[in-house]
Amino acid sequence: MAEADGFAGGDLEKAGLRLSVAGEVATVTLARPERRNAMTGHTWQALAHVGQMLPEAVRIVIVRGEGSTFSSGIDLNMFRPGGVAGETSLMDRVADGSADDAELDRVIADYQEGFTWLRRPDIVSVAAVRGHAIGAGFQLALSCDLRVLTDDAQLCMKEPALGLVPDLTGTKPLVDLVGPSRAMELCLTARSVSAAEARELRLAELVVEEAELDGAVDDLAAALLAVPREAASATKGLLQGASARTLQEQAAAERRTQAGRLRALAAQAAETRG
Ligand code: ACO
Repeated sequence: MAEADGFAGGDLEKAGLRLSVAGEVATVTLARPERRNAMTGHTWQALAHVGQMLPEAVRIVIVRGEGSTFSSGIDLNMFRPGGVAGETSLMDRVADGSADDAELDRVIADYQEGFTWLRRPDIVSVAAVRGHAIGAGFQLALSCDLRVLTDDAQLCMKEPALGLVPDLTGTKPLVDLVGPSRAMELCLTARSVSAAEARELRLAELVVEEAELDGAVDDLAAALLAVPREAASATKGLLQGASARTLQEQAAAERRTQAGRLRALAAQAAETRG
């Protein structure tokens, strides 16, 4: 079991994260349970760093929260006088004139990198959601390929209720999964979705009792690892592109991808023979 090194600008622990890697499985733990795993800009930069330094052997990334809550979203102290030690609030930077639109774009793009890597075709990411996933926490769960929820889980896109929009890459997967009308209803009411409803809305692949969560996620990881790596990543790439392609384009993509697979398998067979 390898532990992650620190990263420039503060170590992972300080940013509220832990990473452990066991062979082909990496586990990223949101580790600020006393704040219900509230996140800051540093947390998202640290998440991006985890994506960059992930060992090549890793095929499965499990994202979980320590304690009773997956994540309570952004650290609300970012919006309060005094803020969070070591963090600069974007709101304060807008107010004091130090962040123009280009700077806001740059900083938010930087934060989004903490979320986008979870879709990489060479890995499968699984959110293990116990309790609440609110705002940025819900967007983090949505950034994962698959979600396993405890039966007491609650998902909530809280940002509009705070006068904000969800900007951590959660809106696209939400619309893709539940459709634009339901996504609008969920975001514009900022209501909580129970685990049972989340399963109905296809926001959860699996809902399990609290005590079963770790075992269910381990079983899922084992099942995912049973499929050969190259075939899994080629298939993930195909599936990810499917909704943006016409049937003809998708059929062509299948042919191209299969040709690559057949060549690789033939080369492997030749190597084994000779
Ligand atoms: N930011 C900062 N501190 C937080 C946050 C947060 N997002 N959430 C909880 N905490 C703190 C609480 O202030 C409390 O601190 P204290 O012990 O010093 O009083 C501690 O964590 C425990 O919180 P409780 O509310 O007592 O925990 P409980 O388990 O009862 O409830 C829940 C958990 C449902 C997550 C609740 O804390 C909550 O609703 N938090 C706010 C969620 C929120 O609005 N997030 C912003 C979303 S928008 C976005 O992410 C962009």
